[in-house]
Amino acid sequence: MQQRKLAEFQVSAVGLGCMGLSHAYGAQDESASLETLARALDLGVNFYDTAEVYGPLINETLLGKAFEGKRDKVVIATKFGFTFRPGKMESFEVTGTDGSPANAQAVAEASLQRLQTDVIDLYYLHRVDPAVPVEETVGAMAKLVEQGKVRAIGLSEVSADTLRRAHAVHPIAALQSEYSLWTRDVETNGVLETCRELGITFVPFSPLGRGFLTGKLAPVDELSKGDFRRTLPRFQAEHVEANRKLVRVIEDIAAAKGVTAAQVALAWVLAQGQDIVPIPGAKRIPNLEQNVAAVDVQLSASELGVLAETFAPENVSGGRYPAALAAMAQK
Ligand SMILES: NC(=O)c1ccc[n+]([C@@H]2O[C@H](COP(=O)([O-])OP(=O)(O)OC[C@H]3O[C@@H](n4cnc5c(N)ncnc54)[C@H](OP(=O)(O)O)[C@@H]3O)[C@@H](O)[C@H]2O)c1
Repeated sequence: MQQRKLAEFQVSAVGLGCMGLSHAYGAQDESASLETLARALDLGVNFYDTAEVYGPLINETLLGKAFEGKRDKVVIATKFGFTFRPGKMESFEVTGTDGSPANAQAVAEASLQRLQTDVIDLYYLHRVDPAVPVEETVGAMAKLVEQGKVRAIGLSEVSADTLRRAHAVHPIAALQSEYSLWTRDVETNGVLETCRELGITFVPFSPLGRGFLTGKLAPVDELSKGDFRRTLPRFQAEHVEANRKLVRVIEDIAAAKGVTAAQVALAWVLAQGQDIVPIPGAKRIPNLEQNVAAVDVQLSASELGVLAETFAPENVSGGRYPAALAAMAQK
């Protein structure tokens, strides 16, 4: 597996987003998830992405189990900062944000327990709390580094300006935001540019458009009842036909190359720079295997251009988040 640099870490060029193993996209039993995680490790994936809020809580516990006795083989990233109603996924609801120093410390300590480790490699603020200056939150995260509980600090879905303010308090190792063919905001809002100027690795989340760009996702009304995609504008019937047309271009390029659409979508993200480490999610082992193999898919300049042009933001129908969640992003 090719490696990319993320602060002090050498990570696999493709990481594994673990959210879907226990959150947002329907249930999967723990033993199947453990098999997926074991296969990922076998394939050379060493970068795993989780969060307090995934499950909630049980996604971190799952990773703790999966990597028991193998901790030195993996780089684990987790996140804090959302508040949520306790309970199982069926009754799950994000209630807001908490970027207070007390919450940064308390969640890190609880995450360490769940992950069965004494240090979190990369600790992200999941969303900026509008009630707490980012300097204060990052100051608390820096204390965790001093205490040896965290190795590196990251942010998620912040603006270029917030990134600069945070980086002035403590070096930011990684910024994780949505980036894929159909979500290109970071190319034009200064975020990617600022990461590059400050030497911050960019970690695209949902690089497969939450499955849509693979051409294999079932229609939204056939997804399980609690599937988060049911709530997202661009997955709704009125937008799907326009977006499916764009995906057909990915499928055509994939067919001509003898690879899958998922691999082309991922290869496009990987081709945007060596300082980019996508974390596609996959519950299913064949999907995981395809995504890992995407590191060897080379797209020509002309293919990259056609894809970028096809998915120009004005051609994508529907927003990526409903209003309340959109308001929490890119602060
Ligand atoms: N910071 C944030 O706020 C934030 C937000 C969202 C996500 N994330 C992180 O980013 C990670 C990845 O994002 P994501 O899971 O939302 O979306 P994604 O990686 O774009 O897509 C995942 C979906 O694509 C399907 N899939 C994966 N590989 C496939 C393949 N080769 N062929 C066909 N279908 C395939 C998966 O199916 P199966 O699962 O059935 O295999 C799943 O439904 C998450 O796991 C999470 O760690 C972070």
